[in-house]
Amino acid sequence: MAEASLEGERGFAKSERGKWPDGGVTRVPFWVYSDEEIYRREQDHVFGGANWNYVALEAEIPNGGDFVRSWVGDKPVVVTRDAEGGVNVFANSCAHRGVAFCRHNRGNTDLFTCPYHQWSYDLKGRVTGIPFRRGYKGKGGMGKDFSLEGRGATPLAVAVRNGVIFAAFDHVAEAFEDYLGPKMLGYFDRVFDGRPLKVLGYLKQRIDCNWKLMFENIKDPYHASVLHVFLITFGLFRMDQESAVEMDETGRHGALISRRGAEADAEASREMSNNLRVDFSLRDPRLLDIAREYPGDATVVMQTIWPNVIVQQQSNTLAMRHMVPRGPHAFDLNWTFFGYADDTPEMTQRRVRQANLMGPAGLVSVDDSEVLVMSQDGLVPYPDSEAVVEMGGKEVADAPHMITEVAIRGFYSHYKKVMGL
Ligand SMILES: [Fe+2]
Repeated sequence: MAEASLEGERGFAKSERGKWPDGGVTRVPFWVYSDEEIYRREQDHVFGGANWNYVALEAEIPNGGDFVRSWVGDKPVVVTRDAEGGVNVFANSCAHRGVAFCRHNRGNTDLFTCPYHQWSYDLKGRVTGIPFRRGYKGKGGMGKDFSLEGRGATPLAVAVRNGVIFAAFDHVAEAFEDYLGPKMLGYFDRVFDGRPLKVLGYLKQRIDCNWKLMFENIKDPYHASVLHVFLITFGLFRMDQESAVEMDETGRHGALISRRGAEADAEASREMSNNLRVDFSLRDPRLLDIAREYPGDATVVMQTIWPNVIVQQQSNTLAMRHMVPRGPHAFDLNWTFFGYADDTPEMTQRRVRQANLMGPAGLVSVDDSEVLVMSQDGLVPYPDSEAVVEMGGKEVADAPHMITEVAIRGFYSHYKKVMGL
């Protein structure tokens, strides 16, 4: 069969490996989800360089000596609070032989010691000691010209805004506020308004698909109201509700905004009929006991901050969803659920209860974990095919509704640029 005849006949074109297909951001070639070379370049151009990556919440390291282990792309890092109260992020990779020396998810220490050759590091990631540096009984050791000065685990640039810690490998990265842009900063500050945060718990899962599918999922309101039985049945997120999709100027960050409304109207019900269960009710209706807590009408704002985090505000459940790529075919999704330090016990209870919607076994999120693996299963064997991303038109511009894939187009418009595709 001639290659050209594939086009049109089956609805998707054959795309040349490494060359973005015609159609710009309305097409996504399937090889971006499986190609090893693309994956390697993403580590440099998407997660590396001047990109501000989410690494932790300040509430996780309140005291001097506190630390958490985190990742920037697939690169392991350590996030610490030093004795002076500063936040430091440095590579979890020994300056000697590269060992990922920090082996605990969190803790408190004044020194990290590499298990291999016992090189030790302070809370700023500087090497403070090397066993047998002067040799033993006059034999061996480091040369006389060897100095500890300037040796350490590679330090990252750090930006902290209202309790959230971001890191970049490039120390001349633009200010975090400029990186987000005014519109996205507004949504960020809506949740992170300066009140101290309180961590409520963690969930971790590994999903066997490319990390981009997860990011796209939260830029894709279209799926939410046809796939998620829970959301549409109980009205937490539906096409017929007042909603919008917004982006920053580059298209890399985005927000899905919606307001919980009344019963689905007849037309919407027809379109959602496969998964709208009018006969379903909750044994424990407290799951839907929602308290309005932010200014404005929105009851859901799901924000994607390029390149590695989703800020989840669905009703009263708040979480950072941190994506850690694990090769082209898997990523870890690390969920940090939080509230505010001044929450009442009732509000904390409400947040924890609503967290049952989320995570690997969440009443909503379980659908995504499953369907994303099904995506990878269907994409990888067809690297030369391409996705059609035309819902809501072909443009990249904010939309005052949810029946659109515009934020996916926005994402790829930036992705193509930084990846040189
Ligand atoms: Fe979803």
